[in-house]
Formats: sequence, structure tokens, C-alpha cells
Amino acid sequence: MKNILTYSLVILITATSCTEKNKEQTTSKNKIQQSVNPNGDSELAILMREMFDEAESIKQQIANGKPVKLNIDHEKMLTAHATEPEKTASGQYKVFADLYLQSIKNLESAKAKQMDSLYNTMVVSCLNCHKALCPGPLVRIKKLQRL
Ligand code: HEC
Repeated sequence: MKNILTYSLVILITATSCTEKNKEQTTSKNKIQQSVNPNGDSELAILMREMFDEAESIKQQIANGKPVKLNIDHEKMLTAHATEPEKTASGQYKVFADLYLQSIKNLESAKAKQMDSLYNTMVVSCLNCHKALCPGPLVRIKKLQRL
């Protein structure tokens, strides 16, 4: 019994996607079960985690004075299946996605002295979409900023 609860909590924490974590949810067993996404992680959620890792790796490349090299296909965000498909079907999502994809392209072709500001523009484009459509991971994404 205790193991099942612990397992549910782990799922809850890893499957939060757009929802803010809420302490009350962890106190009631029924609420925990409702919060678990029955379909597992969406294609988009998995891609977003890869985008997060990619951003950390870009930050590191810049810190080391290296040119930016991308490892994943960011354009997949335009077609990946989402936990809430109505979100990615919105015109708003497409506008934010295009701004993000442009910011990534700018970074790839950037000169060394532009890197810092273009990197921050890229993180802001993650934040702008998340503020509008998916506030849950905002705190985590803010930590990507280079100050
Ligand atoms: C165009 C809008 C948009 C942009 C730009 C965007 N995201 Fe997301 N992000 C989403 C949506 C929508 C989800 C929810 C995915 C789902 O659950 O299917 C999400 C989910 C996430 C998650 C949670 C994944 C999980 O484990 O459930 C993280 C972390 C994340 N994004 C980080 C980022 C980072 C870092 C960037 C920039 C490098 C970024 N996002 C850019 C819309 C966006």
C-alpha cells in the first residue's frame, strides 16, 4: 500500500506538464489518482524535456566559448501530439512556436559577442509561450537564463 502511494506520487511529480504542483493533491489518494495522466507522457512533453536539456547544453557551449550545435529537431514541436491537443492547435501556440524556432536559428548562426543576448531571447521565447499556455514549468525554465 505504501509503495503504491509512493509510486503514485512519483508519477504525479513527473507527469505534471502544465499544471502547477499543488500540496493538497498529495494528501488525498483520490486526487492523486485523478492527476495521473492515463495515457502516459505525450510526445510533446517528452520533446519539451529534450528541449530543456538542449537549452542547458547550449548554455554550457556558450560558457565555454563554443559555437552552438543543436542535437534535436526542434521543428517537431509543430506536429508533436500534446497532453491537451487544443493548446497546440491554437493560433497562439503556432505564433509562439515560430518565435522560438526563429530564436534557435539566430543562435546557431550567431557571432560570439551576440551569444549572450540571443541565448536570453531564446529562453524568453520559452517563457512567453509558457506564460500564455503552460505555466507549470515556468520556475524551472527561468533557471535557464544566463544573467
Ligand atoms: C509554443 C509554445 C511553447 C514553447 C515555445 C515552449 N514550450 Fe514547453 N511546453 C509547451 C506545452 C504546450 C507543454 C505541455 C506539453 C504536454 O504536456 O503535452 C510544454 C511542456 C514543457 C515542460 C514540461 C514537460 C513535462 O515533463 O511534462 C517543460 C520542462 C518545458 N515545456 C520546457 C520548455 C523549454 C525549456 C522551452 C524552451 C527551450 C519550451 N518549453 C518552449 C509549450 C511550449
